[in-house]
Amino acid sequence: IWSVDKEMKNQDSYPQIEEASLLLRNQEVVAFPTETVYGLGADATSEQAVDKIFKAKGRPSDNPLIVHIGDVEQLDSIVAEVSETAREIMQAFWPGPITLIFPKKGFVAENVTAGLDSVAVRMPSHPVALALLKKASVPVAAPSANLSGKPSPTSAQHVMNDLEGRISGIVDGGTTGVGLESTVLDCTEDIPVILRPGGVTKEQLEALIGEVRVDQALKDEKEAPKSPGMKYTHYAPNAPLIIVKGSEKFLQEQVEYFQKQGKKVGVLTTHENKNSYHADQILTCGYRDKLETVASELYHVLRSFNDYDVDVILSESFPEHGVGQALMNRLVKAAGHQFIVQ
Ligand code: TXA
Ligand code: MG
Repeated sequence: IWSVDKEMKNQDSYPQIEEASLLLRNQEVVAFPTETVYGLGADATSEQAVDKIFKAKGRPSDNPLIVHIGDVEQLDSIVAEVSETAREIMQAFWPGPITLIFPKKGFVAENVTAGLDSVAVRMPSHPVALALLKKASVPVAAPSANLSGKPSPTSAQHVMNDLEGRISGIVDGGTTGVGLESTVLDCTEDIPVILRPGGVTKEQLEALIGEVRVDQALKDEKEAPKSPGMKYTHYAPNAPLIIVKGSEKFLQEQVEYFQKQGKKVGVLTTHENKNSYHADQILTCGYRDKLETVASELYHVLRSFNDYDVDVILSESFPEHGVGQALMNRLVKAAGHQFIVQ
């Protein structure tokens, strides 16, 4: 584990980054922080290195990976074509939490794209990620650095808990900022399509380029998603999670209903509402009036519930605008689409 200060301003040089990048260049897998979640990186041009990612995570091989770059110039070797719209989006939001899908050129290893003729690329804005990518100077394939199915890691400790002994190293840059994964935007269509809501919101994109579509599968759980990864169960804590849509009083009534059945009940709430409940375990997740703080803490809180003895977790629901879209998308997945509606 190499510790690095988040802003990379404390040292004149960073031998930690040198060592980690050397491992990447030697076909090893290394976890590193990004502004969204921790990623598990490998040289995207090496089939053998990329295979180690799938093995370490237990990830299904039909789920393609995002290629991370530290310099826009790397794009030319990876993608066949960059549309005018894609260029505008890159200029506005890269480096940053948005991944773009392009027609691929065939420079990255076949297992990165899981046999698709498109490739996902993103330039993260985290100073540590950028420094590592620049030093490695190869494109780096990196999914989130969790065991498949678990919440994505927002700290080096989360990565340790899931992957200790299965990977070559972790660059520890503290907790990540956004806390949810990047937006995945398909730019191969005339009107871009959001395949996964994330750090850059639909509203932000529309302000820049006009109409943006949303993959039908995000609205209707019976539709097959265009992004292979979106079909898998995700983020679930050990105890079943249920989202309660209604007032605090209504949620408290549900707590009592489950307790009467002899169940230990956990509640996922926010700082504003934490005193509204009496339950076996109450965990707070950010401030409701600043949804980005809820997003930032969500995965940590979902993981934390596993430290407590609860039989069921009831969660408050959140408005689906701005970052709330990504937040509810992840919460609904973690709940396996289970709701109680007032
Ligand atoms: O914020 C993030 O995006 C993080 C950090 C580490 O960068 N990475 C991440 O990767 O979330 P991962 O592998 O957990 O999610 C990648 C998503 C999956 O849903 C995958 O199916 C989709 O992107 N994807 C990758 N390539 C694709 C392609 N060519 N077409 C459609 N979807 C693609
Ligand atoms: Mg993931």
